Order: sequence, then C-alpha cells, then structure tokens
Amino acid sequence: MSNIESVLVENRVFPPSEQAVKSARISGMEAYNALCDEANKDFEGFWARLARDNLVWTKPFTKTLDESKAPFYEWFEDGELNASANCLDKHIGTPTENKTAIVFEADDGAVTRVSYKELLGRVSQFANALKAQGIKKGDRVIIYVPMSIEGVVAMQACARIGATHSVVFGGFSAKALNERIIDAGAVAVITANYQMRGGKEMPLKAIVDEGIAMGGCDTLKTVLVFMRTPTTCGMTAGRDKTFTEVLQGQPSECRPEAVGAEHPLFILYTSGSTGKPKGVQHSTGGYLLWAKLTMDWTFDIKPSDVFWCTADIGWITGHTYVAYGPLAAGATQVIFEGIPTYPSAGRFWQMIEKHKVTVFYTAPTAIRSLIKAAEGDEKIHPARYDLTSLRILGTVGEPINPEAWMWYHKHVGGERCPIVDTWWQTETGGHMITPLPGATPTVPGSCTLPLPGIMAAIVDDLGKDLPHGDGGILVIKRPWPSMIRTIWGDPERYKASYYPPELGGKLYLAGDAAARSADRGYFRIGGRIDDVLNVSGHRLGTMEIESALVSKTDLVAEAAVVGRPDDLTGEAVCAFVVLKRSRPTGDEAKQIANELRNWVAKEIGPIAKPKDIRFGDNLPKTRSGKIMRRLLRSIAKGEAITQDTSTLENPAILEQLAEKL
Ligand code: PRX
Repeated sequence: MSNIESVLVENRVFPPSEQAVKSARISGMEAYNALCDEANKDFEGFWARLARDNLVWTKPFTKTLDESKAPFYEWFEDGELNASANCLDKHIGTPTENKTAIVFEADDGAVTRVSYKELLGRVSQFANALKAQGIKKGDRVIIYVPMSIEGVVAMQACARIGATHSVVFGGFSAKALNERIIDAGAVAVITANYQMRGGKEMPLKAIVDEGIAMGGCDTLKTVLVFMRTPTTCGMTAGRDKTFTEVLQGQPSECRPEAVGAEHPLFILYTSGSTGKPKGVQHSTGGYLLWAKLTMDWTFDIKPSDVFWCTADIGWITGHTYVAYGPLAAGATQVIFEGIPTYPSAGRFWQMIEKHKVTVFYTAPTAIRSLIKAAEGDEKIHPARYDLTSLRILGTVGEPINPEAWMWYHKHVGGERCPIVDTWWQTETGGHMITPLPGATPTVPGSCTLPLPGIMAAIVDDLGKDLPHGDGGILVIKRPWPSMIRTIWGDPERYKASYYPPELGGKLYLAGDAAARSADRGYFRIGGRIDDVLNVSGHRLGTMEIESALVSKTDLVAEAAVVGRPDDLTGEAVCAFVVLKRSRPTGDEAKQIANELRNWVAKEIGPIAKPKDIRFGDNLPKTRSGKIMRRLLRSIAKGEAITQDTSTLENPAILEQLAEKL
C-alpha cells in the first residue's frame, strides 16, 4: 500500500460527449446508477436476468448462485449451453450471418475476411477433426499458435466439443510449454510450423518438439500442425498431423455439445507469488455472459462497429476480447498477426485507417512506445493518418500514466473518443472497473468505477473498509459470474491466493493496491502488492525468474528479482545475482549477464529476460536470513538507502549491487 498516494488529484475531467450519451446502451450516469441499484437490491435476480437475456441456453438454469461451497462459487449451475453456439450458431438466420466476423491482416499486410457463416463452417469442420482424433468432452488441449483465424477456430472448436483449451502464448519457451502440458494433462497440442513476426519466420513446432522431448508428457497423444508458411518442419509419425490431413473429408456441420454452465471452458496459466504458474480455470456460462455483456457495456458495440483488440490470444485479453466476446456480440473484428513496429511504427494507425476501425483496444506500453516512435519520426505520427472512424478507445493490462492518456486522447482519439481504462485480471475473466463510454466522466490515469454488479472495495490488511482517499488493498466483496473457479489441480492454492483467512476468507483479493478519490470515489490502481511484476502489461512472478536463474546451477549460487519503474514498459525486471565463482566486473560481467538473460529466455520466454543484472558477493539479508527485498527495490530504482542497514553482515555489498553494468 505504500506506493499509493493517499488522495487523488483530479485536475482534469472529461465528460462523455452528448452524442456518446445519446447513442450509448448505458446512457448517462443515471442509467449506470440504476443498474447498480438493481444489483444491490436483488443481486441474484440481476444476474439471472442478464444471463437469460444474453445467452442461449439449451437447458435453462433454475439456480443462479450457489455459495454453499464458498469460495468455490457456482453460477447458473444446472443450466446447459455451448460457448461456440453462443458465438456462432446464434447468428445464423439473422442479418449477422453474412457479416464479416474476422478481418485478418497478416504480418506482410495480406488481408483475409471470413463471415460468421463461413467461420461456423470452419469451426464445425475442425471440431469434427478433433473428434476424429479421439478428442472428447473434458479433455484438455494445448493451443500454441500465432495470431490467426486458425487460432480462433481451434479455440472455438474445442469449446464446441466440450474440450477444455489452454492457450500458451507463442513467446513462451519449450520448458514453459512442457510444464503446462503436464500440469493440464493435455491429450493434444495444436500448433503451427512457424509464426511470422516483423518479417521473420520463427519456429513454433520445433519448440513443441523440444518441450515434449523434456519428458513427462504421458497424456499427450496428438500434435496438430497448421502450416502457416511453406517451410517444412519435423513431424513424428503417428503423433503429428497437419491441419490439411485431419480436415480432409470432414463435414462442415457439427452439433455443438451442450455442457453444464460450470464446465471448464479453458485453463489459462498466469504468474503468481510462487515459482509455479497458476492454471486459472474458467467456466462456460458465467465467463461467456461477461464476455458478451462487457462488449455491450464497455465497448457499446453496435452492428456497424469494427472492433480491434490488439492482444494476443495467448493472454486473457485475447480470450475474452478476441476469441469469445466480439463473436458473442456479433461484431466485425480485426485480428493482426504481426507487431506494431513492422514495417514501421505507423502500422497500428495505418491499419485503423485501412479497416475503418471504430473501437480500438490496446495496452499502455504499446501507446508509450508509439509515442516515442512518433516523436522521433513525424511520418509515423497518428496525425498523418485518417483516424476519424474511431469512436471509442480502450486500454488494458497496466496503469496508464496521465501523459500517455492525454496523447492517446488527443492524437489518436482526436479529442472526441472516450477512453475506457479497463482494470481486470486473468482471474476476473472480463472487465471489472472501467468507465462506460456514454456515461462516466473520465479522469486520466483512473479506471473510474466498477461495472454494475461488481462489488469492488478498498480495505486495510485486516479486511476493514477504508474511507475514500485512503490507499489500501483492492478486493471484490461478492462473487461474480466470470470469476476464476479454481486453480487447476490445486484448490488449496486457489483458496489461499484469493480468499486468504487474514481478510476473513470472504473477500476476493485481487493482489493490487488501490485508492479511491475523495470526491468521486474513482479507483486508481497502484500496482501489485505481491511478488508479481507487470512488464509491458505481461504478468511475471519474481519467484519464477529467480527459480529460472538459480536453475543455472553451474554458474548461479543465489538470485533475487525485483521490479523497478520503467518509462516505457511500466516495470522492468532487475535481478541481483551471486555467482558460484568470484564476482565478475567489466566486459566479463556484461558477457555473463547476457548468458543469464538468454538462459531466462530459454527457461520461461524472452518476455521474462531481466533488463538489469547486478552482481554481488552476497545479497543483503536480515539476521534470520531473509533477503531484504525492499532494500533491493531501492537499489534497483537508484534511490539513496535510507533504511536501517546495521544488521547487514557486509554493508559493502550495497555498493557492489548498485553498480550498473
Ligand atoms: O496489476 C493489475 C494490472 O494487471 C494485473 C492483471 O494482469 P493479467 O492477469 O495478466 O491481466 C491483464 C489483462 C486484463 C492486475 O492485477 N492491470 C490490468 N489492467 C489494469 C491494470 N493496472 C492498472 N490499470 C489497468 N487498467
């Protein structure tokens, strides 16, 4: 909580335009307040109404919320539905069926379009192919593919047959993949031979092979390979098959398998406080309800919109706002294979112009890096592009600094588009605290107010409510339909992580510090209170990186990892390392630091590479042997040390650790 200023200064407020208020579904603060009141007065009735109005149930639910096994909450438990049918089949026979569902732009700029009807055909055919491989309801399937129509098809096809998918971001290493295959007990991996990023062909299938070769993947029977490029890749006979092979002769009709509302739609691994990533398990009914509803509420999606969420399907944002939400809402969406800086840092603006994007959703890190690029080269400044199609802008994944917010507002939104700064998490399934474009006056750097039905609050260490203006811990007081159900295979960890006894066991602990403004009660997120870092909007566990470093047993004796603020990436990884040999200096230190960075990239993935590495003869510890992380955080920031260091065995190491390479 220490990093929260106690009172927010709201010097600039941007009310929604009259036009935005007039056209929005939730029109004005009265409409927002009315929904909040409805939820407060009849919590279950509110959610039941929304679930009936927004989803197609093959068997209607009679129970809304079951709290008897809390904190393992169940929603709409006796209802049955299929997620894929709610994204695709429901549009058939409506004007949406011939509408473009996906506009796919490849790394090289080539564009492919697929209508809702065509997408349903492709998903159904792929679902039949999965069944023909023996994959059935309840099986787990790992998906490790580039951003593509095929990726969405694979996810939707799993949902169609009731298989639980677990998408692994294409930047994760063979080791990370191996751990996830084992933890999920996956029967199949869906991958591609290569992925194209920034004009470069990068292997995926070879990483899958390496991951499987590490051993322990006993449940795995099948690897399906999408040939993204003409380049061949190694194929293991009997186990590996191309998409073309398995799709051959499969009909493009497949009855969706009705599953219970609580059936696990997917598992998505994310970093926590310990070394082992958590398999966040989501449900079918509650998750999909919120994916659809937040498209309507936060993005106020209209039939004429062109929606573009730039997140990869390997992250929760790409699940909810690429693979499920836009389809459930019947929107046209853009999916982009490449990177924002190729062939130039004007790519996003060029694509918004080309596809006439109306709702654009990206991460603050991307905005900050594009600001920097535009300052250096006025040819790629958004002012050079026609961005008048835009009507709503969004951000996600990390706090947005007011300067970046103002630039986004002015140069991308033309001072006309509301910015929805959406706070949420892998565990929450969808938006939790966010402005509504036709209701909430926005304040740069604040995610404003919780969505109706989301009982967010700020409490102290003991779970006691704090007054507006005080910094504290962000909690959610009541369950909500799209919440995490458990950690796959580890219910005890779920309880301990999210419903800790210290807070009374009934409050969902988000893991973020936050404060509400004294006047409006607006939320501002201060950053994590646990050992989780947020680098470029990607979640990384400090323990995970420490474990990776010390697993280089020939070199590393001890390591401690902390975050430090970074202008571009929000936070940066800073590692303090004690080697088994003498402390290196000069070029040798640089060379060993590089070796360690590459090691971390191999163990976890390039996103986890420490930006700073400092070497010491020792690490600062308390008398009881605990690493003094607070001290390390100060050193990483380059701050003067004001803490008491009298207990340190060797105070000289502070100087060593402060030395930059
Ligand atoms: O610290 C918060 C930050 O990202 C964390 C969740 O990360 P992840 O599960 O990877 O999900 C990211 C995409 C939803 C949160 O605990 N975070 C997310 N959105 C915001 C944010 N911090 C500040 N403002 C946000 N809008």
